[in-house]
Order: sequence, then structure tokens, then C-alpha cells
Amino acid sequence: MGIIWGQLLAVALLFFSGAAADPNDERCLTHLSQSLVDPFKNLQNWTKSTFANPCQGFTSFLQGATCNNGRIYKLSLPNLSLKGTISPFLSNCTNLQALDLSSNSISGPIPPELQYLVNLAVLNLSSNLLSGPIPQQLALCAYLNVIDLHDNRLSGPIPQQLGLLVRLSVFDVSNNRLSGPIPGSLGNRSGNLPRFNASSYEGNRDLYGYPLPPLKSKGLSILAIVGIGLGSGLVSLVLSFTAVCVWLRVSEQKLSNEEEGKISQLMPDY
Ligand SMILES: *[C@@H]1O[C@H](CO)[C@@H](O)[C@H](O)[C@H]1NC(C)=O
Ligand SMILES: *[C@@H]1O[C@H](CO)[C@@H](O)[C@H](O)[C@H]1NC(C)=O
Ligand SMILES: *[C@@H]1O[C@H](CO)[C@@H](O)[C@H](O)[C@H]1NC(C)=O
Ligand SMILES: *[C@@H]1O[C@H](CO)[C@@H](O)[C@H](O)[C@H]1NC(C)=O
Ligand SMILES: *[C@@H]1O[C@H](CO)[C@@H](O)[C@H](O)[C@H]1NC(C)=O
Ligand SMILES: *[C@@H]1O[C@H](CO)[C@@H](O)[C@H](O)[C@H]1NC(C)=O
Repeated sequence: MGIIWGQLLAVALLFFSGAAADPNDERCLTHLSQSLVDPFKNLQNWTKSTFANPCQGFTSFLQGATCNNGRIYKLSLPNLSLKGTISPFLSNCTNLQALDLSSNSISGPIPPELQYLVNLAVLNLSSNLLSGPIPQQLALCAYLNVIDLHDNRLSGPIPQQLGLLVRLSVFDVSNNRLSGPIPGSLGNRSGNLPRFNASSYEGNRDLYGYPLPPLKSKGLSILAIVGIGLGSGLVSLVLSFTAVCVWLRVSEQKLSNEEEGKISQLMPDY
């Protein structure tokens, strides 16, 4: 009897305290704090003891973290002058729905392991120094609503697979070093509007295709050729018209001079 009550009490305590700390969240935070560099000590309470117990129910003890039922479900650390890299162990925060590390100086790749964040809806890594490819594995995060990667140094193509993300409502990869064609499924028209307009793609020197305007550097466009054709046609038309006019005037003058001469010859002088 005493043992059962004891167990019930323990369960109740666990329940009301928001359950035990999650070892996955602890691993995630420990590794992330090691891979990030925080030169101005902006990350308050990012200490070992807090990583072991970052959440109590819906209360968070960790700056930037939002908790739900004892698990971290949002991590929001924008504009904190952070450097370093994003640890692949971030994927151990398995309940994460939103990740915002925007406007820092974080470098290195976007870990493909983010694919294990199966609940991820918002990914904002904009305005950092991230390099390497956009991992095609992001397409496995089926709930992604927002992918904001603008102003980084990402290179390579935009993965075709991202077009499979049916919930995607914001997609911004502008101002990177991306190349190749824009996947049809990310640029195509739905109704009369493109799914994402040119502002999502501009500022990537070697990226091309709808909805970006046609490339100007690579040879002459059809429009330019037609323009030059029409232009030179018009110029030669004007030139020949002028030539004809000048010729006509000259010959007219000659004619009138001659006629005047004839007339003066015919007319007797008084
Ligand atoms: C910092 O974390 C500890 C637990 O590690 C917690 O007791 C404390 O309240 C936290 N401080 C803040 C300001 O959240
Ligand atoms: C970023 O932080 C700096 C100071 O830390 C502040 O002056 C600036 O307004 C912040 N920018 C944004 C967009 O919050
Ligand atoms: C934690 O992340 C590492 C690196 O991505 C991975 O190897 C490991 O399987 C993850 N552990 C769990 C429990 O998800
Ligand atoms: C991502 O973060 C930046 C800067 O912190 C912000 O301006 C932008 O609106 C965010 N993107 C989205 C889609 O919310
Ligand atoms: C547009 O993209 C959708 C996927 O988002 C695809 O099913 C459809 O076939 C595409 N349409 C055209 C005309 O490319
Ligand atoms: C492009 O799309 C963005 C966000 O969807 C919107 O704010 C902007 O006004 C659009 N620009 C044009 C030229 O349609």
C-alpha cells in the first residue's frame, strides 16, 4: 500500500513539475552551446545546470527557449552577435517547431540532420554567414511553413525536393551564391500569381529561370535582337529618305535653275 502511494505521489510530482528533463533536449543544448560562440555573453543562463533542466512544464529557464510540456518547442536567438556553427545535435531537440537564429554571424553549413526535426514549421537562418548547399533533406520536414535563408553565402542549386513542401508559405533564398535553375514547383504560377515571386530569388548571380527576369549577360535576348533589327531598319529608312529628299531638292533646284535659264532665254530683255 505504502509503496503504491509512494509511486502515485512520484508520478503526480513528475506530472505537476512538468515531467523529468528530457535527455535529448539536454544533449541538443549542450552541443549547440559548444558549437556556437557567444563573444558578448548574450546567452543568459546558458549553463550546464540549465541544459539539464531547461523547462518546467511551460516555463523556460533558458534564454530564447519556449517550453511546452517540459520540452523545448521554440528556440529564438536572433540578433545576439553569435558566431560559430550550428551543431548537428540540434536535431536532438526533437519537439522543436520553430528555430530562429537570424541576424547573427553564424558560419559553416546548414546541418542536413535538421531533417530529424519532424515537427519543424519555421526555419529562419537569415542574415548569417552560412555556406555550403541547402540540404535537400529539409524536404523531409513535412510541416515546414517558413524557410528564410536570405543573406547568407549558400551555394549550389535549390533542391528540387523543396517543391514537395505543400505547407510552405514563405520561401526566401535571396542574396546568396546559389546557381542553376529555379525548380518549377517553387516558381510556377498558381492561378495568376507565382508561388514565390522574384524577390525570393534575387541577388544570386547564377540562379535563373521563372520568376526571375531573363539573363542579360549571356548573349542577346530575342527582344534585343528584334529591337536592334527594328532600330537599324528605322535608321536606314530615315537615312535613305533623307538621301532621296536631298537628291530631289538638288535636282529640283537644278531644274528650276535650268527652267529659269530657259525662261530668261525665251523672254526678251527690255
Ligand atoms: C536559470 O536556470 C536555473 C536552473 O538551472 C533556474 O533555477 C533559474 O531560475 C534560471 N534563471 C532565469 C533568469 O531563468
Ligand atoms: C540588434 O541588436 C542591436 C544591439 O544589440 C540593436 O541596436 C538593433 O536594433 C537590433 N536589431 C534588430 C533588428 O532587432
Ligand atoms: C542526436 O544527434 C546526433 C547528431 O545528429 C545523432 O547522431 C543522434 O542519433 C541523435 N540522437 C537522437 C536520440 O536523436
Ligand atoms: C527572419 O528573421 C528576420 C530578422 O530577424 C526577420 O526580419 C524576418 O522577417 C524573419 N523571417 C520570417 C519569414 O519571419
Ligand atoms: C506547379 O507546381 C506544382 C507543385 O507545387 C506541380 O504539381 C504542378 O504540376 C506545377 N505546374 C506547372 C505548370 O509546372
Ligand atoms: C513578393 O512577395 C512578397 C512576399 O510574399 C511580397 O511582400 C511582395 O510584395 C511581393 N512583390 C511583388 C513585386 O509582387
